[in-house]
Formats: sequence, C-alpha cells, structure tokens
Amino acid sequence: MEKSSAAELPAVADTKPSFQVLQQGRQYFWCACGLSRRQPFCDGSHQGTGIEPVMYQAQHEGEEVLFCNCKKTKDGPHCDGAHNAIPGAYQLDDPDSSLNRQIPLRSFNAATSTVALDDGCYVFSTSRAERVQATGMSYCRVISKSQGAIYQSQFHVRAEGPTDFISFGDRHVVLFISAGCGTINIGGEPIKIASDCGVYVRPGEAFQLQPESRLEVFISACPAADEPTFSAEQTSLFDASYPERRVEVDAGKRNEMGSRYFQMLVDKTIGSDVATQFIGHIPESKAAPHRHLYEEALIVLRGEGMMWTQTGRAPVGADDVIFLPAKCTHSLQATSQTGMDVVGVIYPGDNPSINY
Ligand code: FES
Repeated sequence: MEKSSAAELPAVADTKPSFQVLQQGRQYFWCACGLSRRQPFCDGSHQGTGIEPVMYQAQHEGEEVLFCNCKKTKDGPHCDGAHNAIPGAYQLDDPDSSLNRQIPLRSFNAATSTVALDDGCYVFSTSRAERVQATGMSYCRVISKSQGAIYQSQFHVRAEGPTDFISFGDRHVVLFISAGCGTINIGGEPIKIASDCGVYVRPGEAFQLQPESRLEVFISACPAADEPTFSAEQTSLFDASYPERRVEVDAGKRNEMGSRYFQMLVDKTIGSDVATQFIGHIPESKAAPHRHLYEEALIVLRGEGMMWTQTGRAPVGADDVIFLPAKCTHSLQATSQTGMDVVGVIYPGDNPSINY
C-alpha cells in the first residue's frame, strides 16, 4: 500500500466492511487510519499520522461484527454503511452474465404460497395465500418461526370493516399501509392512516382498524409472535409518552445508496428500538450479491423484479414479501423500467445500508 499524505487520511482500505467473530475478554484494536496491512486491525502504521486505533472488546463470546474498512464510519469500529456513499463503491451485477444464466428459476409451492430459495430465503405471495377470516378482516401469516424466522413475524391483513382490537402482547408492532385509508385506534387514540405510511404500536397496546376504503396492511411483530389475539373490547390504553406513531414518505429524508435510495419510517427515533422499517426505491438494475447480519422482510409495493440467491431465483411483484434470514447471500434485481418500490423491516438493526 502506498503511503497516503496526511490530507488523504484516513485512507480507504476497502469499500466493504470486514466480518469478524470475536472472543470475549480479548482486546481488538481497529485500524482507524486505513494504512494497516492487517485490516481491519492496527499494525502500528498509524505512527506519526495523529490517528489512533480504537480498542473494542466483544460483548459476548462469538459476537459477530462488521468492522469498517472504508474508515469513513461515524460509528467506529463498526460499519455504518458509509462505504455505499463512496463513488463507484455500490456494486451492481450483470443479470445476463454466464454465471447468472446458470441459476434456475425455482417453482411456486401452492401449499405454502412461497417460492423457496437458498438458506431459508423465500418469496411469499400474499395474493395467492389462504386467508383466515376474523371480524372485519382476513389475514395470512407471511413470516413466523414455523416458516424459519428467528427474530420477527409478519401478517398481511385485508380489512373491509371495523376489526376487533388486535394485540401481539409485549411485542413491538410495526405496520405498513399499502392500500386504502381509514383510522387506526391505538388504545383509544384515533390516528388517520392512508397508503404508504408506517405506524408504530408500543408493546402492550392493542389496536383496531377502521377502514374508510379497503385497507391492506402488513403487520410485523418483533420479537416474533405466533398469532395475534383479538378482543371486541378495548383492552389497553395509549402510551402517551410515545406520541409519534405515524410516519409518512418524505422525499427530503432520503438516504442515497449508489443509484438506490431509502427513507427511514418507523425506527428508534419514535421508540422502536428493536425493529426498523424503511421505504426504498431500486432503479432497473441488479445489486451485486451481498449479505446482512440482520433478518429482513422486504415487501414489494410497486414494480417487478427477480430475487436471486446463489443457486436459485424467483420473480417478485407487487404484494409479494421476500423473507431474508441473516447472512443469506442474495441480490434483488428490479426489472421494471420504472424500478421497484419496497418496504423493509429489519431486526435486529437500525441501519438498512449495512451490507457485506
Ligand atoms: S495502523 Fe491504522 S490505526 Fe494503527
């Protein structure tokens, strides 16, 4: 590696973070200057630069971390996704490459309403799934522990009349309204809802959907819950210490990630400190294969595309949900000329731009 001048420091050692499994009790010294030949760790090359390494100790045995290699993180030693903003760093892939042409389409399983891909990843079709009837609504279970999830569950609800009060006990609940309008009554607090907004429900609160036009709602419970419980009576009060519950799309709050962008919806800024919801746009393109340390549910709102894992692929379209276990190598391609709009829920994690 060539010596960088002081003005160029810290140097970019790599445009991807480094995945490490750590030992408890051991001290790790993360290279902050970018000059070490032993990335992501310090080898003493920082001497004379005025930059010091950052010491880190694992929180528990076997802790899995992504150490920043671009050295532009604001959360050192951890990656914060800053590498995606380096020109040319967000890599795309050619869907027609000889390697990709060998990856076959997987077939739809009507019994599970899914196309199964690698490592527990699947594409769920909400439009073809069998539904359970309940007061004012029907629903299907999209993601659950019995379908392979560890951290989160998700249900798709179609509501045409007032529902009972729906509860997921002590879970954090994150909703996305994909169609229709009406009101959500959270513990006696009425909140207007319409398509393309996110809603946050605190642990212990029950909520009722009151449609003015048919509501289509994706409901995530974190940690995972097997089934909702229903009650004709209001069973809880609104927790007024968390007053902000509805988050809307705002083009001024977009984060760029190469040619893609996303906006945070329900996240820790309004109290959801375990699950994070975002809305994103993917132009006609295919991301290079990558992984995340979090589990992800990706709802396709608009546009068509292809979900790729290492040995299989599946077409995706509006109202499909992609379930992605942690560390599953994958890439999502938008095939529509106008691209794809997606909503993601990640858990655990608060930053959808971290990938490796
Ligand atoms: S070599 Fe980079 S901080 Fe020590």
